[in-house]
Amino acid sequence: MSKFWNSKINSATPYVAGEQPGPGQKVIKLNTNENPYPPSPKVREVLDNFDIADLRLYPNTGSDIVRDAVAKVYGLRRENVFVGNGSDEVLALCWQTFFEKEYNTGKSVLVPDISYSFYPVFSSFYDVRCEAVPLREGFFIDPDDYCGRDCCGIAVANPNAPTARLMPLDDIRRILDANPDVPVLVDEAYADFAEGYTSAASLIKEYKNLIVVMTLSKSYSLAGIRMGFAMGDEELITGLTMARDSFNSYPGDRVAQKVAEAAILDRDYWEKTRQAIIATRKWVSSELASLGFELTDSQANFVWAKPPEQIDAQTLYNNLKSKGILIRYFNKPVINEYLRITVGTDDEMKALINAIREEL
Ligand SMILES: Cc1ncc(COP(=O)(O)O)c(C=O)c1O
Repeated sequence: MSKFWNSKINSATPYVAGEQPGPGQKVIKLNTNENPYPPSPKVREVLDNFDIADLRLYPNTGSDIVRDAVAKVYGLRRENVFVGNGSDEVLALCWQTFFEKEYNTGKSVLVPDISYSFYPVFSSFYDVRCEAVPLREGFFIDPDDYCGRDCCGIAVANPNAPTARLMPLDDIRRILDANPDVPVLVDEAYADFAEGYTSAASLIKEYKNLIVVMTLSKSYSLAGIRMGFAMGDEELITGLTMARDSFNSYPGDRVAQKVAEAAILDRDYWEKTRQAIIATRKWVSSELASLGFELTDSQANFVWAKPPEQIDAQTLYNNLKSKGILIRYFNKPVINEYLRITVGTDDEMKALINAIREEL
């Protein structure tokens, strides 16, 4: 609390990011769902050839080269794509653009009760009333829970975090059909790791109320450059652009734009690394299951696992930390019996399994 802060900041409960190791500290970092592989070699080429004289000039406001790359990959037009400084910023702008203020309507944005914990933080920060819709037994999202509701919008992560569960595209369609008059946001941060899933971006031509948010931090190994994007009907993208230009007109810097373009267009590398992560996920899931862990069917680059009776989640988290392995533990009701473990390289996951064996 400070008398120099306004009431919004004095009452804020900010998002808490996963811990970052200190400089020089060597750990196996499996706590923030980063990609264990380096970015595409095309990124190296971009950086080697980058003319630093260009940094004198402001970047293109819309990151148009990135918009074009995204449009090409998803079969959309540039007008359907919005680029921001990480998908957290894009999500924040979505909250400001699409979900009505509580004092205007009293209606809520519906979000799953167990999901990306930034959603309630944005809601409270931007004065949007937020209703946490309980997941069904087994951490499933039931689309019926989002139908026939008088809300000001809906936001779901697919696959969901931290549960790692994927909602089929037909369920998203059900939610969209039932809510034609409010924006429906699908956060696909982890969708590239889902097997047999087609992005909800494939529905954009059919649904004017659909906004799909994506990041370069996970499947493109570029958490360090802070780039994310949203895809939707041109009308939605225009709204986001108005919000951006009321806040920060240059969210993508010149280096990040070129790096992002190169990484998005290198489809072979993207496919190779995502397949490697899927294979490792399957291996580590079966190892954990054989050690007695309960797991959801992960379609993300992390697993959601409940340790066997011998050890509780918090103790295991602490003990692994003291061995230099960082995973994520949420000390909140319902999910405090589970651990979220990022899929690293095969060697990192072998080290994790060996450490867990010792603990058990
Ligand atoms: C569901 C979900 N959405 C969005 C993000 C934000 O990603 P970034 O801001 O790095 O693009 C994360 C980060 O972990 C996430 O888990």
